[in-house]
Amino acid sequence: MRNFFTGVFLTLLIIGIALFLALKQGYIDFRADQEPSPLEKKFAMAAVDASTDRHAPDQKNPLMANEETLLAGTKLYINHCAGCHGVPSNPSSQFPKSFYPPVPTFFRDAPDMPENQNFYIIEHGVRWSGMPAWDKTLNDTQMWQLVTFLSNIEKLPPAAKREFDLPGVPAAATAPAATPSPSMPMKR
Ligand code: HEC
Repeated sequence: MRNFFTGVFLTLLIIGIALFLALKQGYIDFRADQEPSPLEKKFAMAAVDASTDRHAPDQKNPLMANEETLLAGTKLYINHCAGCHGVPSNPSSQFPKSFYPPVPTFFRDAPDMPENQNFYIIEHGVRWSGMPAWDKTLNDTQMWQLVTFLSNIEKLPPAAKREFDLPGVPAAATAPAATPSPSMPMKR
């Protein structure tokens, strides 16, 4: 029995040392544009979902989904989120392929998570992804306005839809995929 436990211990120790060396020597690839392994694809996303499920407090959206809230939410979305998450005329922005995990494209796939979970993600962000935590920038009311906007993204009132046609909608969201500027010759 003792030999068995010594065997298990030594195996774990060797795995631990191998992992440490792989990290230390730079064998783990952190490039955002590489194709992630099937294992990472399967477990990383499921882990984020499970963690949100476990930690998001069970709270109700205090706001009514009226025109005032949706207009406020739309303006906040355009200012803070559209550059990554897209706009109706360009739902992909140029980013979905530039980030791993990919940026959800809300005007293509409306978010379907419960509102308390969307609030939690907006408030705290998602570590090791491009999703920032907004609790230092926005107050609770503003974050609930965004949550309400996301829940109603497929049925926005005309006043809110019009916001997307105004000048000042982030160029990053409307520009086609970036091409190198001709005025900046590339080194060969
Ligand atoms: C710099 C790019 C970037 C900005 C700006 C950004 N996000 Fe995100 N967001 C992401 C990425 C990347 C993910 C995917 C994270 C993941 O899959 O774990 C994400 C995920 C989310 C999710 C979870 C969606 C889901 O279905 O899992 C919500 C909700 C969200 N963002 C809302 C917002 C809101 C609201 C704003 C503006 C206040 C915003 N984001 C700004 C990059 C961004």
